[in-house]
Amino acid sequence: MLKRCGRRLLLALAGALLACLLVLTADPPPPPPAERGRRALRSLAGPAGAARAPGPGEGSLAEVRSLSEYFGRLTRARRDAGPPPGGAARPPRPPAERLAPRDVFIAVKTTRKFHRARLDLLLDTWVSRHPDMTFIFTDGEDEALAQRVGTVINTNCSAAHSRQALSCKMAVEYDHFIASGRKWFCHVDDDNYVNVGALLGLLAGFPHTQDVYIGKPSLDRPIQATERLSDNTMRPVHFWFATGGAGFCISRGLALKMSPWASGGRFVSTAERIRLPDDCAVGYIAETLLGVRLTRSSLFHSHLESLQQVPAARLHEQVTLSYGTFENKRNTVHIKGPFSVEADPSRFRSIHCRLYPDTPWCPHTAGF
Ligand SMILES: *[C@@H]1O[C@H](CO)[C@@H](O)[C@H](O)[C@H]1NC(C)=O
Repeated sequence: MLKRCGRRLLLALAGALLACLLVLTADPPPPPPAERGRRALRSLAGPAGAARAPGPGEGSLAEVRSLSEYFGRLTRARRDAGPPPGGAARPPRPPAERLAPRDVFIAVKTTRKFHRARLDLLLDTWVSRHPDMTFIFTDGEDEALAQRVGTVINTNCSAAHSRQALSCKMAVEYDHFIASGRKWFCHVDDDNYVNVGALLGLLAGFPHTQDVYIGKPSLDRPIQATERLSDNTMRPVHFWFATGGAGFCISRGLALKMSPWASGGRFVSTAERIRLPDDCAVGYIAETLLGVRLTRSSLFHSHLESLQQVPAARLHEQVTLSYGTFENKRNTVHIKGPFSVEADPSRFRSIHCRLYPDTPWCPHTAGF
């Protein structure tokens, strides 16, 4: 390989650079291939190269820039290959730090009309295990709800399911998280079951002081948007984002860097710059504005995917689950009992009893 590189170096420096670096990046990390590639590029295209041939040197610098873009894409493509659905694959990362439930801020986004239909189910199930992790962001007063759970925040945002109303809630969630001083911000919807143990296990694999944006995209390619820079300046942008409906998490380190575009209600005007909903705007701030790539996890699930495909034997590993309709069919996790589909249409009660069999209302039947 070195011989081939050497020969080609004599013929065409730029071509050889590409060949060598492709070979270099063929091995898995650490360090991450993109970073290693860039480092190699920097050293190869450094002052020495420029001194030897000033004219072509400029050309190769331009090439270096496009090559480093190429490596960025390469890493991205590799990440896209991702683990298979259901989260079999990847072994858990070794813990980077100890994480207690109170280190995590889980924002549940809801609306007044779903307090009874959706939230009560969450309060009966996963929220009940760690009420101090959960903060409910809604748009109307509800005494009954406030009595059941300590932290209900009336965002005063519109109850419409509009882009602005959704961004308005995300802005309030963000500010409350920053004020909380906690290590991790996680956002979920009111149709998500959060498996708190799996969530803590996942997040403990990353230092909260680093830039981490983790979740699952619902598209198989980056979203294309037009960024409005001023009244008459637009530019196309593309970025990955984690689907809000599956839940996603952001480290405190990254959340603090997002502040110029997210704090004090600025999230709403940032989202307006690309005219996309709240979850897209989070991806835009992280990927486009801050250069922090989405870390994909197949352990988050929204009702926009076929939930039947989550293997029942691996339920305890999943971080979030959901229910609803998908392609006009009822879409829930497939789990046998202890409750019938009629008694537990979302399957959340059955899941909860599987995860926490000591729950008082779970039937203590043989074999369960
Ligand atoms: C919503 O309005 C109420 C009443 O004016 C106020 O007490 C509360 O702080 C507001 N909520 C937010 C998040 O600003």
